[in-house]
Formats: sequence, C-alpha cells, structure tokens
Amino acid sequence: MAKVLVIGGAGYIGSHVVLELLEKKNQVVVFDNLSTGQRENLFEAAEFIEGDILDFEKLKNVMKKNIDVVIHLAAKKAVWESMKNPEIYATNNIEGSINILNAMVETNVKNIIFSSSAAVYGTPEYLPVDENHKKNPINFYGYTKSLIEELLKWYDELKGIHYIALRYFNAVGYDALGRVKGKEKNPQNLLPIVMEAATGKRNGFEIYGKDYDTKDGTCERDYIHVSDLATAHEKAVQKLMKENESYILNLGTGKGVSVQEVVNAAQKVIGKKIKYTYAPRREGDPAKLVASSDLAYQVLNWKPKYINIEDIIKTTWNMENTDEH
Ligand code: UFG
Repeated sequence: MAKVLVIGGAGYIGSHVVLELLEKKNQVVVFDNLSTGQRENLFEAAEFIEGDILDFEKLKNVMKKNIDVVIHLAAKKAVWESMKNPEIYATNNIEGSINILNAMVETNVKNIIFSSSAAVYGTPEYLPVDENHKKNPINFYGYTKSLIEELLKWYDELKGIHYIALRYFNAVGYDALGRVKGKEKNPQNLLPIVMEAATGKRNGFEIYGKDYDTKDGTCERDYIHVSDLATAHEKAVQKLMKENESYILNLGTGKGVSVQEVVNAAQKVIGKKIKYTYAPRREGDPAKLVASSDLAYQVLNWKPKYINIEDIIKTTWNMENTDEH
C-alpha cells in the first residue's frame, strides 16, 4: 500500500494505471490538466486535482499530501507534432518534468515512476532491443524522453530521488471489463485508426510501406496491452517502496507483429473487411521494433498477460461498441 500521485492520471495510460493502483488498494491522487485527459476517466475512489505541471506552486501543494511515489505520465506524445513544434514539447515535456522534480525536492518526495518510450532508441541496431542499446532518438518527442531520463539520473545522484523509467513500446487496447470510459480523442496510432475505418468514422486508412525487410513487407512492432503496462506500474510502485534503487526498464511483449497482421486480426475480430490501401513508407519508421523486457520480468516479477494480438484487438473493439459519443 502506498500513497501515489498520478500526474496525467486522466489520460489513456494514466487511467488504466489508476485503476490498477486502486485494485491493489493503494491511495491515489490524480493531477491532470484535462488537455487530453478526460473527466470520464476519473474514478470515484481517487482524489482529483485539476492542474498543470507548468504551475509549480500547485504541484508543490499537491506533493505536500504525504506522497510516497509520483507516477509521471503527463506529456505531449505525437511524434509528427514534436518535429513541427518542438517548443511545445520542450515546454510541456522537459520544463514540466523539471517542475515535477524540483517540486519533489522541495517537498521531500523521494520516488518517481516516469513514462519513457521506445522512441529513445531511434532506429534499432539490433533486435530485440534491450536497455543497453544506445539511445539515439530520431524525433524531438523521443529526445524529450531521453533527456528526462538523464535528468532523473542526476536528481538521483544529487538529491536521492529514486526512479523507475519505463520505456513503453506500442501501447494498445483498453480495460477488458470496460471500466475505463474515455476513448482517446483524435487517435494518431495504427490500431485506433483501423478501428475508425472499421466503424466508418474515417473512409479507410493507409498502410505505410509494404516493401520492408520483414515477414510480410509491412513494419513490425511490439504491441503491449495498456492493462499490462498498468500492472507494471503498480509493481514498480511496490518496488520503490521496498528498495532505494533506480531502474530503466523496457515494457513490451518481445513479439513482433506486422501492420498487415494487425489489420488481418482486426478484420477477423470484427468479422468484416476494413477499407485500406498501401502507401509509401512513412519517414522515420524503423522496419522492426521489438523489445527485450527480460529485465522488467526479473526486477518487477512482471509478465504481460496479453500476447495474442486478436485478444488485444477485442478489448479495443469492445470500447468502440460502448462508445456513446
Ligand atoms: N501505420 C500505418 N498506417 C497508419 C498508422 C500507422 O501503416 O495510418 C503503421 C506505422 O507506419 C507503423 C505502425 O503502423 O509501422 C505503428 O504506427 P504507430 O503510429 O501506431 O506507432 P509508432 O510505432 O510509429 O510509434 C509508437 C508511439 C510513439 C513512440 C514510438 C516508439 O506512438 O509514441 O512507438 O517506438 F514514440
């Protein structure tokens, strides 16, 4: 049991993390500016404070609530936008994280879990990618995550703040029991786009590239279910409560699934054809990106439950069908 401050707790991953923390009887305070987070993602059992990570005073006041562990998931995350408007990403992601760390120093909060990303690796030099792989982000979003990891190392060394940075691979799916109510708005990622094409919200979609050196010519990714990410966060909280150690951990399944396989599986789950065409490669896409998560398995005693892409897609499809908007 811990008292956990979840910054960005009304967002897509954050709401699943809050749910898991509550399930495991932790006390939860959610801090979110509701810019992309949604009110319907808030749970009765968690205290909610509306606020922005750029508001240092407000952050400090929240930290004074005897917080054991901060989970920091508040960030801008659209890769293309980070290349167009890096200043927005510098402010929200980097300055926002510095505010969180400085507020922790001032209020003597000693533990933080940071949502990092596979984007820190850039184009992988070997597969599966483990945590020792060199960091070489190829977009500004990935750079912000990499830089924040470096800040964490220094605040650990100089201020005794322990951290677990979790490098997510491709987060997908929704709570299988439908307890998370807010569907992500304006989705930018493959699976929600496929879902929108399936429900007619968009007139088909494009598969970017079919000439990659992969099993079927389309890009392979490591799709990790958001509820599996959530259990890893809860275990990371317990780890930080027990030990004064810091870690950087990949979170993936270790299984490469191609875009074509995602589309085929979606058609199977939905039971109908989805409209798509093949388009040229998208700039900056590595052919394959698959995680080695052995370290997370060991350190957190965690394993993803969802390995089969069809099972993952079912949880997303359920969400489509319960959507009332
Ligand atoms: N894709 C399509 N058509 C689409 C959208 C995506 O073919 O309309 C393909 C992409 O080319 C890629 C795969 O589907 O091969 C997955 O694409 P996503 O945009 O869903 O995800 P990415 O792998 O590009 O990016 C994800 C996260 C980023 C993170 C990155 C790190 O969205 O935040 O992983 O690995 F930085």
